[in-house]
Amino acid sequence: MADEGNYYVTTPIYYVNGAPHLGHAYSTIAADVLARHMRQRGRDVFFLTGTDEHGEPVAAAAEAEGITPQELADRNAPAFQKMVDRVGASNDFFIRTTDPGHIERVQQIVQRVHDNGYVYEGSYEGWYCERCADFKTEVELDEGETCPIHKTELVREKEENWFFRLSAFQEDLEKLYEEHPDFVAPDFRRNEALAFIKQGLRDVSLSRPKLTWGIPVPWDTEQVMYVWFDALLNYVTALGYAREGEDLTDAFWPAQMHVLAKDILKFHAVYWPAFLMAAGLPVPERMYIHGYLLLEGHKMSKSLGNTLDPDEVMDRFGADALRYYLMREVSFGQDGQVSPEGFETRYETELANDYGNLASRVLAMVDRYRDGVVPEAEPAPELVAAFDGVLDRVGTLLDSAEISKALDEIWDLVRRLNRFVEETKPWELAKEESSGDSLDRSLYSLTEGLRVVTQLLHPFMPTTTDRLLDQLAEPSRGLSELGSRPGGVSVRSGDPLFPKLD
Ligand code: MSP
Repeated sequence: MADEGNYYVTTPIYYVNGAPHLGHAYSTIAADVLARHMRQRGRDVFFLTGTDEHGEPVAAAAEAEGITPQELADRNAPAFQKMVDRVGASNDFFIRTTDPGHIERVQQIVQRVHDNGYVYEGSYEGWYCERCADFKTEVELDEGETCPIHKTELVREKEENWFFRLSAFQEDLEKLYEEHPDFVAPDFRRNEALAFIKQGLRDVSLSRPKLTWGIPVPWDTEQVMYVWFDALLNYVTALGYAREGEDLTDAFWPAQMHVLAKDILKFHAVYWPAFLMAAGLPVPERMYIHGYLLLEGHKMSKSLGNTLDPDEVMDRFGADALRYYLMREVSFGQDGQVSPEGFETRYETELANDYGNLASRVLAMVDRYRDGVVPEAEPAPELVAAFDGVLDRVGTLLDSAEISKALDEIWDLVRRLNRFVEETKPWELAKEESSGDSLDRSLYSLTEGLRVVTQLLHPFMPTTTDRLLDQLAEPSRGLSELGSRPGGVSVRSGDPLFPKLD
């Protein structure tokens, strides 16, 4: 488990031409879990999210509404900011690619790529998807020249513009993948990216000649930057101006973790490191490619018209329940079904019963049998054994962004504590004066166990665990071992953490 050093984590920046949906919330929550966990470990964290505001899809959406792209962006970006806040994200900055600070830095970096000899003027013809803002290679095409992601017909486009010499990085990229097997996770995504590289890289457009909505190419202001390089660069530019009067680039670049989904693998795993190399900048340490949340078998997206509004879910269940559900239900890295029914089941059985009831019972028993004061005792050996090494295991999993696996580890302990309640039956021990020591040990162990799992769950459910840690009189939001806090502390019962649904 790596504890030293700063930790920089990002989400993709979301297109402002649509409304935020559960898929955007998902990536944001995942990155937030990592950010919060690393802060618990005492690392200095920078967590970035934001909006991608240039490019054809945004220009087209604005045109359809008869407003300017900037107006559209100004109207929609706050909806993403609101979503980010509402899901409880602890981001340190929210970047908008129309920020002057971003634009200025993109131009500087692109100029460097140009001066380093990786840019030339040329022409290109291929199958283009406007929504992806991407020329598809022959291997990527679906049948009948359709987009593999949007299932729409592609247009044959030919353009004269500036090109980025991606092909020059063929060997460097292969070497990067070989020397850093962790660069892309999970493994099957790494293999996918590597296969794309190995099939032979072709140069890619760096600019778009027909479009005006974008960042002007510094040496040819008739053209604007291809939106993907503009967007990818957000991860670097933000550090330059996120904190007024301070440049965080040296402290936080290269990033430890980019979180994104499989739809934008190629841009992040192939174009991005090559572009950084061309600019003479270090490449990120890792990226984790998660799957799609599926509703009735389809990826949620505005264009397919099957979105589920995260606000609706949070109105009913609260942000923590949504966070928990998404991190728990879908094995991180895989596609996974989500549904209102699945949500309610996890809420009832795991949040209300496994965890909420455990907390209520433990606190009520300490209250009833020991006047609310946690007894002084040693932790029970069976719990010591179950909790042994859990901080390392969870930490190691989260170092590689294996978020649902980490949550599984924690939840096993929640269930272990419930079994311990049934095994030791404190209510029976309380009947016999002579079982006082056993009762003390049971209640002490349970309070400790609850405290430790609640700290571990804090990154997943910050609000609820804050409340419970307060009730447990635990001031620290860090991590600690079972048995590290002595008894003698006064704790408080409270309302159910996750009230039953009507
Ligand atoms: N603007 C680009 C990204 C630029 S990053 C330098 C973009 N934006 S997007 O609005 O389309 O967001 C795509 C990302 O949103 C996915 O990579 C993923 O992180 C998230 N998701 C969108 N739909 C999703 C699901 N149905 N399921 C899970 N995540 C989803 O691409």
